Amino acid sequence: MIVRPHDLFAQAFNMQFAIGAFNTSNLEFTQAIIGAAQSQRSPVIVQTSEGALDYVNVTVMTALVGALANAADVPVILHLDHGKSLAQAQACIEAGFTSIMIDASTLPLPKNIEMTRAVVDYAHDRGVWVEAELGAILGAEGMQELHGASTPDSFLTDPKQAEQFVEETHVDALAISVGTIHGAFTGQEYVRFELLEEVQRILPSLPLVVHGASGIADDHLRRVATSNVCKINVDTELRIAWERALKTYFAEQHDKIDVRKMLGPARDAVAAVVAEKMKVFGSSGKLKVQ
Ligand code: G3H
Ligand code: ZN
Repeated sequence: MIVRPHDLFAQAFNMQFAIGAFNTSNLEFTQAIIGAAQSQRSPVIVQTSEGALDYVNVTVMTALVGALANAADVPVILHLDHGKSLAQAQACIEAGFTSIMIDASTLPLPKNIEMTRAVVDYAHDRGVWVEAELGAILGAEGMQELHGASTPDSFLTDPKQAEQFVEETHVDALAISVGTIHGAFTGQEYVRFELLEEVQRILPSLPLVVHGASGIADDHLRRVATSNVCKINVDTELRIAWERALKTYFAEQHDKIDVRKMLGPARDAVAAVVAEKMKVFGSSGKLKVQ
C-alpha cells in the first residue's frame, strides 16, 4: 500500500541503506518498479515528474500506483519528483501523494527558501514529507547549453548555505548536488565524497537525497547508500533498458502487434534494473518484519 515515508527513511538512516526512487509515467514502469520491490522484499519510492503528470494526470497516476501498491505486500511511497510550484505540490498532496520534492534550486537562494517553506507548511499540515534541492543537478545538456560547463562542479551544493536553508525551510530531506548529473553520461559524473562528507558534518541528522544515479558506478552508489543519503533517484537507466528490450523485440519479432508481447519483455527489463539497484542501495531484504 501507499505509505508515508517517515518511518522508512528513519530505518534507512539508522541502518545505513538508501531507498531507490524510480520514475514512472505508465503502467508497465509502475508494475516493474513495484514488482521488483516485491521480489527484493524492499521498500520503494515510485516517483513521477511534472512531465509524467502532463502525460497521465495526477488522479489517474495516483489511482494506478495505489491499485498496484494495494495488490503488493511492500510499502510504496508515492513521490512528486522535481515539483516546480506550490500549486502542483498541493494537487499531488490532495490526490494522495505521501512525499513531495519542491525544486526551486534554479531560483536565487531567498526565493528558493520562500517557495520551499510555503510547500513545507502546506505539506507538514497534512503529514506529507518534503524534499528540496540546493545546488543544481542539471542534465548534461543543461550544463553545456545553459552554462557551457563540461562538469557539474559549477553547480555543487554549498555546505555553508545548506545549514541556513534547512533551518529556514524545515525540509525533511535535502537533495544535494555532489557531482551527479541527470540523464546522459558525460564521463564527468562521479560523486565528490569530500563534499558529501562536509554536508553530513554540518547537518548530521538530516536525510540526504542523491539524484542522477544513472551512470554512477555501483561501488560509488554503495558508498553513497551507507552515508546519510536515504533516497537515490534513478530514471535514465530504466529508460535505456526499456528501449533496448523494445529494439530487440522488433529486431527479432517483425509480425507481432500484440501490445502485451511487445511491452512485457520491456517491463521485465526495467524490473531487472530496479532489482539490481535495490541490491546496490542495500534496501533489498530490509522490509521490517511485518
Ligand atoms: O529525478 C530523477 C533522477 O534524478 C533521474 O536521474 O536519469 O540520471 O537516473 P537519472
Ligand atoms: Zn532528479
